[in-house]
Amino acid sequence: MSSRRPPLAERVALPRPETQGDGALYRSFLDWDWRVRGRKLQKWHHYFDVYERHLSRFRGTDCHLLEFGVMDGGSLFMWREFLGPGARITAVDIDPRTLQFNGLLPDVTVVTGDQADQAVLDRIVAEHGPFDIAIDDGGHTARQQINTFNGIYASVAADGVYICEDTHTSYWPEYQDAGPQTTMIEHAKKLVDEMHSVYRAAKPSRFSVPMAERQGDIAVSRFAASTYSIQFYDSMIVFEKRPRAEPWSEFR
Ligand SMILES: C[S@@+](CC[C@H](N)C(=O)[O-])C[C@H]1O[C@@H](n2cnc3c(N)ncnc32)[C@H](O)[C@@H]1O
Repeated sequence: MSSRRPPLAERVALPRPETQGDGALYRSFLDWDWRVRGRKLQKWHHYFDVYERHLSRFRGTDCHLLEFGVMDGGSLFMWREFLGPGARITAVDIDPRTLQFNGLLPDVTVVTGDQADQAVLDRIVAEHGPFDIAIDDGGHTARQQINTFNGIYASVAADGVYICEDTHTSYWPEYQDAGPQTTMIEHAKKLVDEMHSVYRAAKPSRFSVPMAERQGDIAVSRFAASTYSIQFYDSMIVFEKRPRAEPWSEFR
């Protein structure tokens, strides 16, 4: 075996497999035929592994999913089947034609509005929140992605998940409606720093002191106090919520 460690910057060709996953949800996507189902479903193949990884634990529960972006209604059917009959789904689209999906599926509610508009987001939260899962598959511009995240994240349950899809649009000028530096990817990078703000708020020595001996509290933002992980995938960012405690490191 060669001991050569290839340089990470070396250029390599990407393979082109016809299928990109093996989970049940992905198989249902591969089996989807809009001519038979009567409606189109638009998804990138590599998203299904991420969905299964983060959303499988909600299957068969009475969770509440909020999805931005309805289009032809395909994902409403997909989530309905995947999550099971106990789940409730609320979907948002700017196109009033998507209201046709109201009443078509049990426990699916479609509302119209612009996801970049704070008043719309406030109304959705007031009338339909809270949510266990929020998925942004709407218009994918920077303003839409950032405003939707900022407007909805606090209304995702303490152990919930927020997924922003199609973050590759951060690199496409057509979607940079807030300037080239203000993209969802850049916003999420700042949130990585924010998630670690506790380590700026106190000296390193504090974190090896037993909890009962620590003086005073460390205050961090609600975002930092409620975010367990931020995962960057190809074109998706997944925020997992979980209440956080002061970190503690000790030798045993
Ligand atoms: C990618 S499609 C949704 C696909 C659907 N989730 C699926 O998987 O089949 C994007 C949808 O976002 C909607 N949209 C575009 N801009 C929007 C905005 N500002 N607010 C809400 N929805 C928007 C479009 O009308 C379109 O139906």
